[in-house]
Amino acid sequence: MKRVLTYGTFDLLHYGHIRLLKRAKALGDYLIVAISTDEFNAGKGKKAYHSYETRKEMLEAVRYVDLVIPEETWEQKIDDVKKYDVDIVVMGGDWRGSDRFEYLRDYCELVYLDRTEGVSTTQIKEELNLQEPPGEPEPKKD
Ligand code: CTP
Repeated sequence: MKRVLTYGTFDLLHYGHIRLLKRAKALGDYLIVAISTDEFNAGKGKKAYHSYETRKEMLEAVRYVDLVIPEETWEQKIDDVKKYDVDIVVMGGDWRGSDRFEYLRDYCELVYLDRTEGVSTTQIKEELNLQEPPGEPEPKKD
């Protein structure tokens, strides 16, 4: 049984996330997703649209995901790998070569997967912000 672990916020779940999760699961048999808690995000100066509980609920409904756990600190990763007997940590290609993950090679395999182009949570938020807010509906004319 090969166990795979990945990290992220996964806010406003989109097809870039789904494709990442599908490819991560295909590397093994059991996929664990560690998602940032609201407190951890706040410490980074970030705020997700959906709460931790909602993001967790949505990810648990994805067929590739077997377990969702909280990401509360930058330093928990070695403990996670040991605790959940993880064989492979998977990250999106935006993290390739990062000090935040490279040291994990001493504990498990580390795989970076290319991001899906053309979609991100930030982009979705920005594009929705640009749209005209809905006005009063036009009165119906017969
Ligand atoms: N991801 C991906 N392709 C995308 C967007 C995200 O493969 N188009 C991956 C990321 O590389 C990461 C995981 O999905 O491994 C969770 O990413 P997250 O940062 O939560 O999503 P983003 O859409 O990148 O969010 P943001 O714009 O806030 O950075």
